[in-house]
Amino acid sequence: MSNSSPRPAAGSRRQALRHLATFMATSPFMSLADANGDPVQAGGGAQTGRPGGQGAPRDRPDVIRPPTYRDEIMKVINLHEFEDAARKSLSLAAYDYVAAGAGDELTLKANREAFSHYWIRRKVMVDVTKVDTSFELFGKKYDHPILLGPGGGKNIVMADGEKLSAQAARQSKAIMVGGQNQMLAEMGKAGQAPTWWGATLGEGTQAQAVEFAKRSEDAGASALCLTVDYPYTGARDRPSRDQWDPEWARTHVYGTPEFRAGFQAGMIDPYTPNLTWEWMKWVRPQTKLPIVMKGILTAEDARLAVENGVQAIIVSNHGARTLDGMGGTLDALPEVVEAVAGRVPVLVDGGIRRGGDVMKALALGAKAILIGRPFLWGLAAFGQDGVQRVVELLQGELRIALGLSGAGNLKAIDRSFIRPAWKAYRPGAVSGSASR
Ligand SMILES: Cc1cc2nc3c(=O)[nH]c(=O)nc-3n(C[C@H](O)[C@H](O)[C@H](O)COP(=O)(O)O)c2cc1C
Repeated sequence: MSNSSPRPAAGSRRQALRHLATFMATSPFMSLADANGDPVQAGGGAQTGRPGGQGAPRDRPDVIRPPTYRDEIMKVINLHEFEDAARKSLSLAAYDYVAAGAGDELTLKANREAFSHYWIRRKVMVDVTKVDTSFELFGKKYDHPILLGPGGGKNIVMADGEKLSAQAARQSKAIMVGGQNQMLAEMGKAGQAPTWWGATLGEGTQAQAVEFAKRSEDAGASALCLTVDYPYTGARDRPSRDQWDPEWARTHVYGTPEFRAGFQAGMIDPYTPNLTWEWMKWVRPQTKLPIVMKGILTAEDARLAVENGVQAIIVSNHGARTLDGMGGTLDALPEVVEAVAGRVPVLVDGGIRRGGDVMKALALGAKAILIGRPFLWGLAAFGQDGVQRVVELLQGELRIALGLSGAGNLKAIDRSFIRPAWKAYRPGAVSGSASR
């Protein structure tokens, strides 16, 4: 195509461009951002000195981005904000039911506060080109160490919430703990089930316990999770004030007033008060599946769990929904890890909201972590996509923490990556060597 319009001579055009480039390079007001949003000085390499600035060959790894979702989801930028998003779509009673901790919610606060009891010790000049969040459990490799904790409430916060959570777990490659056996068995037949564990709050008789194990195994569970911290329902003020009726939550029809007793202060509502180590004797010989015990908080119980054939322990206080006055789970983790002494994996949950929180838990010896409320908030606000986004955000934040701390991958994380916040540095206090 010919161009007949008058054009400046090639020489003067080049001169003008050179003037512009000189102005941009020397102006204190001019700075550009590179593709990652990091500042790059005009006419030069990256301000940070790393390769890949303007003109330099791209010899750094690709940007890893989690999947994107519709705008309203992408505007929710961290796990805390999913709670605000969920609140808008829930009745006060449903919101309170999920959010509540027992009593004065001291333990609920302690779960979060415990993460400020430790600081990450960052290492530099380590090649972290490869950042890897994968981990192994019971001989299988998983993409990341974020599990969806067991819990009722999925169908309360969202219609078909059990199914949507299972689909999200599959999509985001998170192990789902608990779920409806029949539904999961059907999903399994269609090749659509996530990796999931059967979950129970315990059974009062041997026949019931064995039946639970068999049913879960037949439905395709890859482990069994026994929650041991629920002999009685905890007294929770918020649902108590809302006259929460579990019968209504299940059937949308109000039960008789005694149904509302569950969370009321002053009442005592038995769940499995007769659960003892006998349960392990009943079930252990009846199943090939690993048995995971959830709700261990002390060294004594951890030792007993291992002696009774438990194959993994979850340090948990049930999301602070039972006995108020206990400390945060992160503070209980070191004592359990020490007692177990590497014989079985230890997992932890309670108040985990950030990638840095996951890093701290792993540095104190946890193999993996669970989240409870955050994925229920994601579900309540945005259904399946919301749950996926919650998991993917947390995994993304963990990736950043691994990249920035010098750990790079989960196997490399050990006690040398963490120090108690309350202790001032003393020579010799930090060995820097791996000890779990
Ligand atoms: C609404 C709700 C219901 C729960 N139900 C159970 C349950 O049935 N069994 C159980 O072991 N844990 C249950 N939990 C506890 C979670 O599995 C998990 O331990 C806890 O929520 C983790 O703390 P986080 O919510 O701060 O992440 C429940 C938690 C919530 C919020």
